[in-house]
Amino acid sequence: MYAALLLFAFMCSTASTNAEHRQPCHSPNMTGYLNLMSLRGEIKAFGHFTYDSMGKKLRFTSNESQYVNSSQEHDLLMFFEEGIFYEIDSKNQSCEKKTLQSTLQPLDIPDDAKFLTAISVGNPSIDGEGIKLNIWMGSSAEVKGYSMSVTAGCLPLSSFYFSESVSVLISLSDVDNEIKDPDLLLVPPYCQGLPVEETPEGTEHSFLNEFI
Ligand SMILES: *[C@@H]1O[C@H](CO)[C@@H](O)[C@H](O)[C@H]1NC(C)=O
Ligand SMILES: *[C@@H]1O[C@H](CO)[C@@H](O)[C@H](O)[C@H]1NC(C)=O
Ligand SMILES: *[C@@H]1O[C@H](CO)[C@@H](O)[C@H](O)[C@H]1NC(C)=O
Ligand SMILES: *[C@@H]1O[C@H](CO)[C@@H](O)[C@H](O)[C@H]1NC(C)=O
Repeated sequence: MYAALLLFAFMCSTASTNAEHRQPCHSPNMTGYLNLMSLRGEIKAFGHFTYDSMGKKLRFTSNESQYVNSSQEHDLLMFFEEGIFYEIDSKNQSCEKKTLQSTLQPLDIPDDAKFLTAISVGNPSIDGEGIKLNIWMGSSAEVKGYSMSVTAGCLPLSSFYFSESVSVLISLSDVDNEIKDPDLLLVPPYCQGLPVEETPEGTEHSFLNEFI
């Protein structure tokens, strides 16, 4: 549903020019659930996330109890500012430390995004029946285009990314405006002091590429 909405918004945008020059807002600290789906309908990942907006740190741990292919478990700790991330295997307490080639953050609006429009979903005049969303869009080195819809308080609802090869929809749910467990954003003891693995030629590590 939101995918269709975002796609529609995206298509309209080529025709509309917006006179407003708004600065993108930045998401606050958050905890919640993240769902990542390809537009072919496959759910690529679902799980718990913790996000530090100032430190630009993200922990995402996929949730095994869901209907996601369990051969594709993820536990990622990303430091977007440093351009480093860890792939964590907490079961056997092992880690891989890698370089992030693209620092595209799934939970924050890029600074050069353009404001597209504000829409109302449902009926915002009735309490609990609707929300007002701001839609931002842009492109980046990694993706041909993206569109993000956020609440007035800058909580992302869903983000749509498309590139030549793949289109992905990320949606968040049960979001809290705080970090519930700061320890999740610390490098686990068994990951400390690891060397950074070399990135193979032609590979580009990014949050999105971990799922594609
Ligand atoms: C966000 O979380 C970080 C890390 O826990 C903390 O240092 C910072 O003060 C928090 N920011 C806000 C606005 O609460
Ligand atoms: C999996 O997700 C559900 C919410 O859909 C949550 O109640 C449950 O605690 C999660 N399990 C883990 C291991 O995160
Ligand atoms: C799960 O993913 C693996 C690797 O992508 C694939 O080989 C396998 O067929 C998938 N299983 C299901 C049930 O989709
Ligand atoms: C931990 O498990 C992963 C995946 O199952 C495997 O690739 C890795 O070699 C294991 N590491 C250790 C130290 O056993």
